[in-house]
Amino acid sequence: MGLKIDRVSHRYPQQEDFVLKDVSITLEDSQIVGLLGTSGSGKSTLGQIAAGLLRPVQGKVLYNNEPFQALPAREKKRKRIQMIFQHPEVSFNPRISLDKSMEEVYKLCGKAYNTEARREMAGQFGIYPEQLKRVPAQLSGGELQRLAIARALLPEPDILILDEPTSMLDVISQAQVMRMLLALQKKRKLSYLFITHDVALCRYVSDKIYTIEEGVIVEDKQLNPAVV
Ligand SMILES: Nc1ncnc2c1ncn2[C@@H]1O[C@H](COP(=O)(O)OP(=O)(O)OP(=O)(O)O)[C@@H](O)[C@H]1O
Ligand SMILES: [Mg+2]
Repeated sequence: MGLKIDRVSHRYPQQEDFVLKDVSITLEDSQIVGLLGTSGSGKSTLGQIAAGLLRPVQGKVLYNNEPFQALPAREKKRKRIQMIFQHPEVSFNPRISLDKSMEEVYKLCGKAYNTEARREMAGQFGIYPEQLKRVPAQLSGGELQRLAIARALLPEPDILILDEPTSMLDVISQAQVMRMLLALQKKRKLSYLFITHDVALCRYVSDKIYTIEEGVIVEDKQLNPAVV
């Protein structure tokens, strides 16, 4: 069960070098898996492949033992795997209000439109209805990142790919958002692929950590909760 990245290699079009080389990782149900690595090591590329947003040149991505592509349309629409991007501004259409952006998620996943749930979720991440009337450029980077997390949770995914989800936040908001994410993970039995270069934070939240260097997984570590 869960998500399995099986011997994936990737090279971007018109590039000579592979940025991922024979990478295999597994994410079990209700597990937090950390992905650590320095800048340019291939973390975001791997995250996008895991979320089904980028098709790898070689290798497979299996969701509950089946290729994600093979899921029934209804399930695919519900987007069982959601990604929070490193740069939150790419997650929102710059021309429409954030409220509208949130509303689109309901349309996409075929769920009944629910203003209350939408506002409540945004509120949990400290974004108020007043702010939802604005366009993305009228929120701070940190606010947008918090709203991106709230929005990704609306379709009720099983798996969240979190690409540096707190990198734009100050220490206090970072702690608040992490607490929120950890509580949600427990409550909804979510799995997270937590991408970061913050070793301490990664060790604190993860059940297992993969370390990637220049596109190669160099370490795979099961953490013992008693010693974390
Ligand atoms: N669209 C693209 N086209 C060509 N090369 C790319 C593209 N996106 C990323 N790369 C290259 O792939 C490599 C891995 O990039 P990636 O964004 O996955 O790294 P990262 O580990 O997420 O880095 P960071 O910590 O800085 O976010 C880098 O050398 C990068 O320049
Ligand atoms: Mg990145």
